[in-house]
Amino acid sequence: ELGKRLDRPVVLVGLMGVGKSTVGRRLAKRLGLSFVDSDSAIEDAAGYSPAEMFERFGEKDFRDGERRLVARLVEGDVRIIATGGGAYVDPSTRQLLNERAITVWLDAPVDVLAERTSRRDTRAQLRNGDPKCTLEKLSKERRPSYEKAHIHVKSGEGAHKEVVEAIIEALE
Ligand code: S3P
Repeated sequence: ELGKRLDRPVVLVGLMGVGKSTVGRRLAKRLGLSFVDSDSAIEDAAGYSPAEMFERFGEKDFRDGERRLVARLVEGDVRIIATGGGAYVDPSTRQLLNERAITVWLDAPVDVLAERTSRRDTRAQLRNGDPKCTLEKLSKERRPSYEKAHIHVKSGEGAHKEVVEAIIEALE
């Protein structure tokens, strides 16, 4: 069974709205593994959501906390880890994750991300200006980082279920 054969965590990376948390939770269930989301873990540890941390302390403090937390998560049990969209962009985090985990990039067109993120206003970066422009810009900047993930999976308009199956196939 795949879940038992895995010897390292599987870490989902990619832009906000791509479905890392939803896909991660379902993938964990399919494989009989536990699931953790780095944004939620930060909130549990700090008592502030990522958006609140951005606003109160600034992005740098959030990134410092995120870097430490993700490093701790990847040293733990074999499980499915969803990261906040910026975590894998940090070079030292990226290197650590690629060494200690199987990294999976979920990629979707910016239109799809803009639509999905508009349903819930939880992201600090999308509060000012046109969300689609911001996503476009982040997508350009971050693509070279995300391309370094071990596995690339398209997560377009299709159902999350298909994305889960595509990841399982790539992991087999
Ligand atoms: C961020 C993405 C967010 C959250 C924070 C910063 C980013 O996570 O960590 O708002 O820089 O892309 P999601 O990708 O889960 O939305």
